[in-house]
Amino acid sequence: MEASGGVNNNKKVCVTGAGGFVASWLVKLLLSKGYFVHGTVREPGSPKYEHLLKLEKASENLTLFKADILDYESVYSAIVGCSAVFHVASPVPSTVVPNPEVEVIEPAVKGTANVLEACLKANVERVVFVSSAAAVAINPNLPKDKAIDESCWSDKDYCKNTQNWYCYAKTEAEEQAFNFAKRTGLNVVTICPTLVLGPILQSTTNSSSLALIKILKEGHDSLENKLRWIVDVRDVVNAILLAYENHKADGRYICTSHTINTRDLVERLKSIYPNYKYPTNYIEMDDYKMLSSEKLQSLGWKFRPLEETLIDSVESYKEAGLLQSA
Ligand SMILES: NC(=O)c1ccc[n+]([C@@H]2O[C@H](COP(=O)([O-])OP(=O)(O)OC[C@H]3O[C@@H](n4cnc5c(N)ncnc54)[C@H](OP(=O)(O)O)[C@@H]3O)[C@@H](O)[C@H]2O)c1
Repeated sequence: MEASGGVNNNKKVCVTGAGGFVASWLVKLLLSKGYFVHGTVREPGSPKYEHLLKLEKASENLTLFKADILDYESVYSAIVGCSAVFHVASPVPSTVVPNPEVEVIEPAVKGTANVLEACLKANVERVVFVSSAAAVAINPNLPKDKAIDESCWSDKDYCKNTQNWYCYAKTEAEEQAFNFAKRTGLNVVTICPTLVLGPILQSTTNSSSLALIKILKEGHDSLENKLRWIVDVRDVVNAILLAYENHKADGRYICTSHTINTRDLVERLKSIYPNYKYPTNYIEMDDYKMLSSEKLQSLGWKFRPLEETLIDSVESYKEAGLLQSA
């Protein structure tokens, strides 16, 4: 479902990390709804943001600000005057990084703290922080026989011990965001998406799209046959806007649509695109968690069929030159 709320009185809102996969779709949605958008980017002028400038209404209603979320003053300059802030920026590494403290944890945790501090000072009405299912479900003690909901949190010690720094960072950042909200009265709502797929607007690739591209392109000999929870990027940004526009929105929202194991995902892809080099061997994994987006659905959120997400993803990778036709 499209987020409702055509009446926004041309409000000014800020999107951090505007050039990323999810944020680009959010900027597009906000512009289409008549919002004035302040987008933060680290390297203005870089060709990696050209897609933003081509969005409908961008020339009138989009302003890009140079800001690193680790630099408070630059963040404040982009946020001041905005009614809402959508905090999307965060490193999402696709490989093991040599220095996780600097490359992953600090930008996620300190970066979020800077954004929230700036929002408080600028009297922002509501902050929607894009957290992750990585902050919800990475916990060996969660029940396997009932759905995981918003009361569940990833286990930070477990994340640390397994060197899952991204999950650690997202969990710490979201926890601190709610602590800050409690302490200061800042209105914070979080959206926790699972694996986000769907068409890319940007010309560069991002971690989650890369996961699908690799399945199609690299001819993995074998793959872990584990559960994947997939949500379309266009449905994620509808959820993010809904979390801002719906006054009833409160707390955190798991954002997921389709649960499918790797083998079935490959079979679905094969039925649509039979000629890519797909894996033939699977390593079976014991992973039966169920995640529920019931809370988000009760706000009116709807999602599209998996088929549509897969087709639109693959076609966009081909168009961007990231994947050959087969
Ligand atoms: N994709 C998924 O499957 C998924 C699932 C759950 C949650 N999420 C969350 O969704 C958000 C967006 O993810 P994505 O997939 O769209 O990733 P992405 O395409 O890699 O975008 C990440 C963005 O973060 C920005 N960024 C990183 N470090 C920054 C810093 N120090 N200062 C300012 N900006 C910084 C990058 O900005 P530059 O352009 O300047 O490099 C980039 O625009 C993240 O918070 C992620 O945790 C994603």
